[in-house]
Amino acid sequence: MDTVHSPGETELLPADIEAIRREFPVLQQEFYGKPLTYLDNAATTQKPQVVIDRLRRYYEQENANVHRAVYSLGELSSKAFEDSRIIAQKFLNAASEKEIIFTSGTTDAINLVAATFGRANLGPGDEVIISAMEHHSNIVPWQIVCEEKGARLKVIPIDDRGDLILEEYEKLLSPRTKLVAVVYISNSLGTINPVKKVIELAHAHGVPVLLDGAQAVSHLPVDVQELDCDFFALSGHKVFGPTGIGVLYGKEALLEAMPPYRGGGDMILSVTFEKTTYNDLPFKFEAGTPNIAGAIGLGAALDYVMSLGFEKIAAHERALLDYATEQLDAIDGLRIIGTAREKAGVISFVLDSAHPHDVGTILDHEGVAIRTGHHCTQPVMERFCVPATSRASFSIYNTFEDFDRLVQGIRKVQKVFG
Ligand code: ALA
Repeated sequence: MDTVHSPGETELLPADIEAIRREFPVLQQEFYGKPLTYLDNAATTQKPQVVIDRLRRYYEQENANVHRAVYSLGELSSKAFEDSRIIAQKFLNAASEKEIIFTSGTTDAINLVAATFGRANLGPGDEVIISAMEHHSNIVPWQIVCEEKGARLKVIPIDDRGDLILEEYEKLLSPRTKLVAVVYISNSLGTINPVKKVIELAHAHGVPVLLDGAQAVSHLPVDVQELDCDFFALSGHKVFGPTGIGVLYGKEALLEAMPPYRGGGDMILSVTFEKTTYNDLPFKFEAGTPNIAGAIGLGAALDYVMSLGFEKIAAHERALLDYATEQLDAIDGLRIIGTAREKAGVISFVLDSAHPHDVGTILDHEGVAIRTGHHCTQPVMERFCVPATSRASFSIYNTFEDFDRLVQGIRKVQKVFG
């Protein structure tokens, strides 16, 4: 099958994409004698050489614990670590670096808010609003704290396309609502939620909003001040950075008022057996030796994304999405799950003839890596009455040929399963 796409004005040219691909060593490999077609970017993104080199430089030349040492090596590591915080602040356009808390990822960030803000602010009869398309990491932490406090979880329903039903959301907001926690881009449907509207409506009721930004940050620019969100969570590994590192952004006044999360070193000003006083922001929420290398690697990754520019990223991914949707739609016996008006680079689908796990296994033998299963969003599967989906999720380094290979692989699956 020939690729018939011709690039638009802001789009990347094939030569630009080739240059980007060369920066990602993993992509240069073959599996089963076929070039790797990596379409599982919603699960994790690949790492550019600049991030790998930065991690290596840290371990070869800068490794020491942070915020503790008086020697020069310790100053180097502390500076690199804090420089990364400033890069993250710039990336999110946070008002202050005090608002940038390093966590182990989005899951950890949401658990932090649930365990601190949630515990301090929820009481019997209070409510937390989430949506029907949340990842388990933005459901379970709220269930845990709601159960503990006698509070209730309320769920914004979604329609058959996978869009939030905003009229229903408005009806859920009430004086009992203490927090709204919603995903920016759905990992299983690709829906880009109208989060600005979600925030405006919540704020009209004086309710703060947490955004799960895990899938958003590699696809679109985020300006937390412009969005006016109260909390924003992201994972480094989904934006070309290392695993085990993420960021919780929180408005300074909210973070100040919240009790600490974990206790330990670095989060204290003084400790006696009678009383402990806590450190200033952001350190109050960073107990123990942090993931220093991860934070520094994340800084390199965020710099990398900013240097590519979101306009080009968005234009390329938009073109890929249109092309891939058209190609997949044309396959008899294939149904796309998630057809929201605004979508990012995620296409979930089911085949009449084969279970997603069989699809994934046969595609693997074609060198095509996709995720199959419930994508940690079991309520979404239930909503669409499917046990699982196959999901192709893409990124800046994917090509139109990647989707031609995906389509060829799907045709092979259909042949095998009749
Ligand atoms: N949340 C990740 C995904 O969507 C792991 O695949």
